[in-house]
Amino acid sequence: MKLNFYTVSNTKFIFLSGSFESLKEQREFLYLVTKRDYLYLKIYFFDLKTIPVTILKSINDLKSKIEIKIYIYSFALFKYLRALNMPVYLSYKNEKKLKKEIDLNQYEIGDFLKSIYFKYGLDFRGYRLDSITRRLNESFSQSKFTDFRIYKKAVLDDVFLFENLFLNFSISVSSFFRDESVFKFVKEYLFSYLESFSHIKIWSAGSSSAKEAVSIAIILDELGLLDRATIYATDFNPYILEYSKNLIYPINELNDAKLAYQRAGLSFDFDKYIDIHGDFFEIKNYIRESIVFSRHSLTQDGVFNEFHLILCRNVLIYFSYELQLKVLKLLSDSINRQGFLVLGESENILNRFFENFNLDLKIFKKI
Ligand SMILES: C[S@@+](CC[C@H](N)C(=O)[O-])C[C@H]1O[C@@H](n2cnc3c(N)ncnc32)[C@H](O)[C@@H]1O
Repeated sequence: MKLNFYTVSNTKFIFLSGSFESLKEQREFLYLVTKRDYLYLKIYFFDLKTIPVTILKSINDLKSKIEIKIYIYSFALFKYLRALNMPVYLSYKNEKKLKKEIDLNQYEIGDFLKSIYFKYGLDFRGYRLDSITRRLNESFSQSKFTDFRIYKKAVLDDVFLFENLFLNFSISVSSFFRDESVFKFVKEYLFSYLESFSHIKIWSAGSSSAKEAVSIAIILDELGLLDRATIYATDFNPYILEYSKNLIYPINELNDAKLAYQRAGLSFDFDKYIDIHGDFFEIKNYIRESIVFSRHSLTQDGVFNEFHLILCRNVLIYFSYELQLKVLKLLSDSINRQGFLVLGESENILNRFFENFNLDLKIFKKI
């Protein structure tokens, strides 16, 4: 990390290059920020892609007292902090011109996805073409480019542009107790099967902001099973994964979370599981401790454990039929005999590895 700062007429400017490598560096930064020898604060994070939770919390405390502006280069971090109502700005201006949709043919897209794979190691070639085309159009029209060929080349040369595209490719929408009836069923029926195991291993695959993993941990807590369970939350998107580890969510999502919690048939109070810090709420530590976060790609990595229950919801819909088959095989190989798989509302198993357990709720049992 390289830290520079100066003050000009009541405004303190702090410039940070690189990322926080140690607690000492975090303390150094916090010292600068909390030493109130200014009225206005402008912070420039040049290379930061994720932010340590202590820094996030201190800036959050400070922003109610003084005027802060934070300039960020990473689109991923910008989006995350904006959702948490932090005073962030993108450091480069996107000319938000409305461009005509480009008419991309599948060969051109295939070529581009191949180049992305060779350059960045991320393979989107088996993703559904309609969804990829839509996302590609979106990213192109958000960029400052008007010529698609130049845009393509720029994406391959500039990791920030690629990040923007990558984030558009990996849709991260999620919510606590999403499809409440699924969680109700998991609580009432599945865990009565699974409680006979001395240790219960659960995998939330494509976990996005970890709301699904937290929902499961809360159910286990209420059933008195949390102490003997581990929940693995994995995603292929490194930014989403890092943010999800903070277990911090915008306060405006709290009401929906509480409603979903009740509809899922849980009996305590959602407040029991959270601490509120102004614009966001944080999941309590003992819940966090039951979740192991790990980067894992369902399409590029292999089996990494054996689970009693896998939730892989709203991920397969983005894959072609062939890729879905490949991923279902991986999921089947990762489940214990008699274990369960839960898919998303509009997803289906297409093969012979599972039998229906509750077809309406997309819950399947390994044969
Ligand atoms: C729409 S979210 C679903 C989140 C959560 N499962 C739910 O249902 O609320 C889809 C998630 O799948 C992740 N994803 C997409 N492709 C993936 C892959 N190949 N391997 C692992 N995760 C992937 C995305 O990054 C995103 O976080």
